[in-house]
Amino acid sequence: MTNPLAKLDRATHMLAEAKTLDEIKNIMDVAEAARTYARAAKLGLEAYNHAAEVKVRAERKAGEFLKRLERGAGGDRRSDKIKNSNVEYLISEYSDVLKENAIPTTSAYRWQQLADMPELVFEKHLEDSVGEKPITTSGVLKELKTSQRKQEREAVANKAKAIPLSKRWHVHHGDMTTIKLDRQFNFIVTDPPYPKEYLHLYAEVARRANEWLFDGGLLIAMCGQSYLNQIYSMMSEHLTYYWTAAYLTPGQPTPLRQVNVNSTWKPLLIFSKGKYNGKIFGDVFVSDGNDKSLHKWGQSESGMYDIISKIVLEGQSILDPFCGAGTTLVAGLKHNCFVTGIELEEANVNISKGRLAEL
Ligand SMILES: C[S@@+](CC[C@H](N)C(=O)[O-])C[C@H]1O[C@@H](n2cnc3c(N)ncnc32)[C@H](O)[C@@H]1O
Repeated sequence: MTNPLAKLDRATHMLAEAKTLDEIKNIMDVAEAARTYARAAKLGLEAYNHAAEVKVRAERKAGEFLKRLERGAGGDRRSDKIKNSNVEYLISEYSDVLKENAIPTTSAYRWQQLADMPELVFEKHLEDSVGEKPITTSGVLKELKTSQRKQEREAVANKAKAIPLSKRWHVHHGDMTTIKLDRQFNFIVTDPPYPKEYLHLYAEVARRANEWLFDGGLLIAMCGQSYLNQIYSMMSEHLTYYWTAAYLTPGQPTPLRQVNVNSTWKPLLIFSKGKYNGKIFGDVFVSDGNDKSLHKWGQSESGMYDIISKIVLEGQSILDPFCGAGTTLVAGLKHNCFVTGIELEEANVNISKGRLAEL
């Protein structure tokens, strides 16, 4: 049997010439066979990436091809199912081609995402990966998301430059462990970083909550599950344990490979300063999806709004000492609260300000 890698150079040449989806798919198959062979025969990263690069380039070209096809009215790129009072499936050139070539809609969608990627970003990712890490379609698409997030962040942050001060919100640029604030708050609602190296920040936020909360105020902190036992005991040194609520993230499980768990909820740790004197509240909150467009650890506005609107009264004040891209503050402001954020990274401060100024 010939070594499948031997066919790659010809496949690369053919890809440049390919005119039909059939031709492109053949090249994809050749590249996939070479990729599988390189991995099985442990030929090393260079051989593997040679094949993987041809495959990703072929997928991008297939995406360009699919984008040009005519679609049925109302059809989107993700699905060719069209709801219409008379016809349930309106046949389009696009759906015909997918069917004829046995292309799953998810693959078609991913290839078109590759095709949408700016040439410079696509080429740079491939260039940076060769010799460094395996090239994969999901890796390339992740790069696309990162570059889109960067652009969105820059656009929002630029708006922040000319924003006047507001009486309803404030975002401080600084370190929450040392910053001085000259006021107190009814609630602290926050989402500190979860990785182990940041664990001490749960002790810090509980310590500083003694100074920042009015008597009877609550600290509500989101956290991961991995170090929960340590977090409870660190925070209990400074505040009174009050309750643990559930923050549900349905439909978007976080795979925790070290413990073989796919998690769809997070604990909300609630501690009080003295005796809580606010309203009665339920202990399950729901997010309709996370939002990583402005911050890699961003929470959804819907989830933060669910928490705030069910626990905090309009007109009360909220502090988020790890405000990131400002999601808690946006939700609080929409609930007619006075909101204050602290954030270490200046870019995040500007993004938070930009979002708040738009409300
Ligand atoms: C999990 S993120 C918060 C994301 C936020 N909930 C959102 O939806 O955008 C935690 C944030 O805390 C910030 N941070 C980390 N250490 C900090 C410190 N000592 N003081 C202030 N902010 C800090 C990080 O820069 C990061 O933006």
